[in-house]
Amino acid sequence: MDYLLTAPCNFGLEKTLAFEVKRAGGQDIVTRDGRIDFKGDDKVIAKANITCSTAERIGIVLARFRAVTLDEVVENCRRIPIEVFAGREDQLHVLQGHSLNSALSSVHAIQTRIRVGLIGRMQEKYKIGRLPETGTELRIDFLMLKNELTITLDTTGSSLHKRGYRAFSNAAPIKETLAAGIVDIAHIRDTDTVVDPFCGSGTILIEAAMKAAGVAPGLNRKFSAMYWKCMERRVWNEAFEEARAAVKKDCGFEAYGYDIDPEAVKLTQENAKKAGVEKYIKIQTRDIKDFHYPVSGAKIVTNPPYAERMGTSEEVREIYRTMGRVLLPRGDSSLYIITSIEDFEELFGEKANKNRKLYNGMIQCRLYSYYG
Ligand SMILES: C[S@@+](CC[C@H](N)C(=O)[O-])C[C@H]1O[C@@H](n2cnc3c(N)ncnc32)[C@H](O)[C@@H]1O
Repeated sequence: MDYLLTAPCNFGLEKTLAFEVKRAGGQDIVTRDGRIDFKGDDKVIAKANITCSTAERIGIVLARFRAVTLDEVVENCRRIPIEVFAGREDQLHVLQGHSLNSALSSVHAIQTRIRVGLIGRMQEKYKIGRLPETGTELRIDFLMLKNELTITLDTTGSSLHKRGYRAFSNAAPIKETLAAGIVDIAHIRDTDTVVDPFCGSGTILIEAAMKAAGVAPGLNRKFSAMYWKCMERRVWNEAFEEARAAVKKDCGFEAYGYDIDPEAVKLTQENAKKAGVEKYIKIQTRDIKDFHYPVSGAKIVTNPPYAERMGTSEEVREIYRTMGRVLLPRGDSSLYIITSIEDFEELFGEKANKNRKLYNGMIQCRLYSYYG
């Protein structure tokens, strides 16, 4: 059976995610701001969860309808065949959604009525007055936009950026999904050498190594829909098997990570080991002022400190001037630098070939690309 599916992502990474969804078998892909809608069956749900590196989660769109009264919300929710997914014992957890430009503005009231409608449907279908709600938890999200309510059932569980390798991080880690998106924009291949002179907990290097070595981001974690009564475990086992078979035993990829903080260096080592890519990554404590290219033709992919999150503004600006001095005599190396500092190019000393807007959490940043 084909579902309408939806996958939110970081603003600016929609194209990358659309490509990943297509590779996972998604059909009729529609790119929206900050998400991708597509169609797919159980197999696509499993593959998208396991392999999409830039999606935050994968949801099944249960219903989309117009509603301007709370009664309409309840009535429409009673028509959703929730019993297909939820067993008699299962719990429904309707999360706090959003309401924008709509007659119904109370998120709490909408949330409560969705639950009333869905629970009413289950009571009717399972012919039971009081549901035990002792089983698997199903997470329901909603968005009321211009009087149209979209109700989504989450298939993922804890967000997809949680790959399982970063139990600990330093002060300002980049989200794994954003790092994966930047790695994709930098066209990292399995013959490349990637260098991150501000590696922190190693996220960029690890995402790059995973991509180069064919390690699917969800290979070592679990997903909610695996435990649903309507999902065949075989479908998930096959998707995991396929992902395991795609891991390269060895490849020519190399990565070098540096950071001024010895603790960050230790963290990167630990995280790379957990991700199973430590053999590709060499790490050293090093101040940016002592940077030199380990090889020619490397790709520098980095997330230097921004004033918002670490350091004072003047310290950070001096780091950017130093970066210009040590990184710019770059031969055939390419650079991909994400920062929120607005006059970055001035401080750095050269205009980028391209820059694109990306959000690091709530911070508006730009990714500056300098082609080798
Ligand atoms: C924004 S964080 C990088 C986070 C990293 N992308 C991650 O996901 O964990 C910036 C890093 O730059 C390091 N740093 C600050 N000043 C430095 C310098 N002068 N030379 C090298 N590294 C420095 C900090 O220790 C910090 O780990």
